[in-house]
Amino acid sequence: MKVLTVVGARPNFMKVAPIIAAINRHNDGADDAIRHVLVHTGQHYDAAMSGAFFKDLQLPTPDVWLGVGSASHAVQTAEIMKSFECVLAAERPEFVVVVGDVNSTMACAVVTAKVAWDCAGTRPRVAHVEAGLRSFDRSMPEEVNRVITDHVSDLLFVTEESGLRNLQNEGIPSDRIHFVGNTMIDSLLAFKEKADASPALERLGLRTRAGGISEYALLTLHRPSNVDDPDAFLNILAGLNDLGHECPIVFPVHPRTQQRIKEFGLRPEMNGTRIALIDPLGYLDFVAVMKHARLVVTDSGGIQEETTCLGIPCVTVRDNTERPVTVEHGTNTIAGTTAPQIRAAVRRQLQRPGGAVAPEKWDGHAAIRIVEVLVRASSFRPGVTLDASVAEAIPA
Ligand code: UD1
Repeated sequence: MKVLTVVGARPNFMKVAPIIAAINRHNDGADDAIRHVLVHTGQHYDAAMSGAFFKDLQLPTPDVWLGVGSASHAVQTAEIMKSFECVLAAERPEFVVVVGDVNSTMACAVVTAKVAWDCAGTRPRVAHVEAGLRSFDRSMPEEVNRVITDHVSDLLFVTEESGLRNLQNEGIPSDRIHFVGNTMIDSLLAFKEKADASPALERLGLRTRAGGISEYALLTLHRPSNVDDPDAFLNILAGLNDLGHECPIVFPVHPRTQQRIKEFGLRPEMNGTRIALIDPLGYLDFVAVMKHARLVVTDSGGIQEETTCLGIPCVTVRDNTERPVTVEHGTNTIAGTTAPQIRAAVRRQLQRPGGAVAPEKWDGHAAIRIVEVLVRASSFRPGVTLDASVAEAIPA
């Protein structure tokens, strides 16, 4: 059995690392070892956005690097599709595993769903990890990617109950859907103690002389709707003014946001608010900083989930979330994007008692469940010798 896994952008790496670890665990002494091929599309390519994560998450060097880089949605997606089709033809895996909702996810899922090795339409099956999430906001590129990916997938691995409901409502047959938990949380649980050795807090001057940790908030912003428009961006900063007086705000700045800050000529102190702008952090450094923050303000999807598991209050600077479990059972609140809404949400969340909750099946074993499903769904059976005529009909 051969499994090909695709990564492309930063939030993919922590979702795939536990799946590769689970495959390695399965292969330990197994007579039905899984051959694994890791493909990196190169959607993210900087050391800070990609290389650092491979090192921190102990990911193997990709077997295939497509090197597509940055471009418009159409060009990036098309470049991935063109290159990935050649990889599929050369590798001929039984399953293609895609994760999350980035352009690489959707592009590789669509290519896999449309190849055919013979006139019977034999092709690899598409497995989508993190299926079923919906913000119901089609202006988000990720929402378009989610819907398309789910509708061409053969196996849909769901992280939370809302995902099951959404897929059922969209008519996806239930035998394709598997509620397995969250592989991003598998990584968080596997690495959160190791993150304690990160020097990030010292480097940022957040350790006190007595060895304690000063109070600070953590901010991340990269959604086009929040940072591509100067008014929207300035509004968010205005909403954080009070918080900036309460405690310093650490802001690791995504490359897209860095470009906008330069273009809009924002000053380092960011509109009068006490914000420390720093380069993007690697995985372990980011977990170390997130886990001791008094509050996290973000427009990321994954950080809403990670703060829920860490018990850190989170203010999501968006009008919706595709991850409602983080609000219903976790520490997240959906603030909206106007300055008064953000100010009010920050005030509410600063009062919130801490305490971690783990949504159903966010227990560190999601990847193991995924690999179990793949093995069960595989047509490869060790020790079974195919009739010669059948064997000949199966492409190499
Ligand atoms: C992508 C994902 C988004 C995810 C985010 C995490 C899509 C549609 N969006 O958005 O869902 O939350 O990644 O980061 O797939 N850049 C660099 N170095 C890099 C990568 C990008 O400098 O390694 C710069 C480029 O100038 C690029 C810009 O950042 O134009 C945006 O990158 P892109 O991959 O287009 O989208 P993200 O905003 O990162």
